Amino acid sequence: MSTACEELVDPKQIMLDEIIIKYRHENGPLIPILQGAQEVYGYLPAHVLKRISKTTRIPLARIYGVVTFYAQFRLTPVGRNLINVCLGTACHVRGGAKVLETIEKELKIKDGATTEDGRYTLEIVACIGACGLAPVISINNEVHGRLLPESIAGILAKYE
Ligand code: FES
Repeated sequence: MSTACEELVDPKQIMLDEIIIKYRHENGPLIPILQGAQEVYGYLPAHVLKRISKTTRIPLARIYGVVTFYAQFRLTPVGRNLINVCLGTACHVRGGAKVLETIEKELKIKDGATTEDGRYTLEIVACIGACGLAPVISINNEVHGRLLPESIAGILAKYE
């Protein structure tokens, strides 16, 4: 039988505290701490940013400034399916913008957003290394290439 104390342990918070301890004595520790925290939580919840602020004594406003400046950081959770639409040169030339427009219309969201039901998150990316298959999207790292706008709905429907 577990004790009340054991039930209160949050393994993610332990990992977060380890990350903070690892970096807080180095110069400019904020970015690696935020990257580590995002790896643990999948995004950067408000309570995590508060804890980082408290333990590093970096003002919360400065932390939010950094988080909102760099596109790599997220303040909201990712949907169950992460769609990356490539707008690198090869994909752009072969109709990537039309593919993006079709996905945006289909899901009623824009770049960086998540559908209300949490099913999809949409992100525009640069080349994902499959230029020969342009235009390309990846969903949960699974690549779909040589896309036509009319094939988008069928592909999206496969991801619950
Ligand atoms: S430009 Fe899209 S995969 Fe390379």
